[in-house]
Parts: sequence; structure tokens; C-alpha cells
Amino acid sequence: VRTAVLISGRGSNLSALLAAARDPAYPAEVALVLSNRPEAAGLRFAAAAGVPAIVIDHRRYPTKADFEADIQAALDSAKVEIVCLAGFMRLLSDSFVARWRDRMINIHPSLLPAFRGLDTHQRALEAGVRIHGATVHFVRPEVDSGPIIAQVAVPVLSGDDAETLAARVLAAEHRLYPQALALVARKVARVVGERVLVDAEAP
Ligand code: GRF
Repeated sequence: VRTAVLISGRGSNLSALLAAARDPAYPAEVALVLSNRPEAAGLRFAAAAGVPAIVIDHRRYPTKADFEADIQAALDSAKVEIVCLAGFMRLLSDSFVARWRDRMINIHPSLLPAFRGLDTHQRALEAGVRIHGATVHFVRPEVDSGPIIAQVAVPVLSGDDAETLAARVLAAEHRLYPQALALVARKVARVVGERVLVDAEAP
């Protein structure tokens, strides 16, 4: 299944998806990498993997609609079927989100619905939770909401600061995102009534 990965920065989740997709049995292929920032470090992972990458710099567009029209054109011309947001830091409009409904997924560094938004690790520490983690979900207009595809739990340890906790969660993200994308690409995970059903999961 032809997949695009949208990034804004480091791209470590992109790197994990590219690594998974090297296996011929993996059901998704990274057909396009798109960054809204020309300086995104993650672009080098696309180059190293020989995957087409393009920069669509939001600062060069007068409106969000113009920016998104170029993103859509790039996705269309690459015949993309699934979009993965991986540290993509622009809010997408309701109409773009609607167009990709149930075909666009995101990874968020918390156990949603806890800790939507930014600074999740610091906020988890402040809340005193003992279990933190990451979530892959279908994208809906409301940020960090949408049907949950897969989650991973990560322990919070007593000596943690936001940095050590973030590193532990990030390592778990790199395992989670390829697994979640595979479920979507194989159509094993489907949205039914705003929840995800995973076929072959016995009740
Ligand atoms: C990850 O923690 C992801 O969950 C969040 O942004 C970060 C992106 O990191 N949405 P990277 O660019 O994949 O390294």
C-alpha cells in the first residue's frame, strides 16, 4: 500500500517506518516523504532509503488552503493511499482531514486520551502517572483525538526527567508505528462507529 510520511523535524519515526518497509512482506511501502520544513533532519532518511522526498514550505503560501492544495497534489501524483503523520507540526484543516478520513494516521507521545497536545512527558511527570506511553490513531479535526489503532505502555521511573522519559517512549514509538501502519495497510484495523475494530482479535 502506497504510503506518505509527513514530517517536520528529526524523523526518527520515519526512519522506523522505512526500516520496517524494507521487509518485502511488510504491507506498506513508503512512496513519498513530505516535509513542511526544508531544514528537517529527517529528510536525510528518505535520501538514504532512496525514497522521493519533497519540501512544501508552509511559509511560502499565502493561505493554508494553498499549502494543502500542494500537499494534496503531491499525494495524488505519488498515488498515495495512506498518510502517516510523524512529528508533522502543522495543523491540517477540517477539509483536508475529511478528505483523508480513515486513511490518515498520527503518532502521539502519550496514552490518549491523556495528555493531548505538547510537552506530554513533562505533563505526565507532573501528574505523577506511573504508566505513560504512545498512541497511533486515525486523524480527526480535533487535535490528538480520533479512533485509536494501537498503544504502547511505558513505565515512568522514579529518577525520570522529561528527557529520560521521552527517550524511553520514543524507543517504544519506533516499534509501535510500524505495527499500527501494518494493521491499517492490511485493513485488519477498521473504523466502526468511531472505534477501531481489529479483526482476528477475539473478544
Ligand atoms: C514523536 O514523539 C511523535 O510521537 C510526536 O513527535 C515526535 C516526532 O519525533 N508526534 P520524530 O520526528 O519522529 O523523531
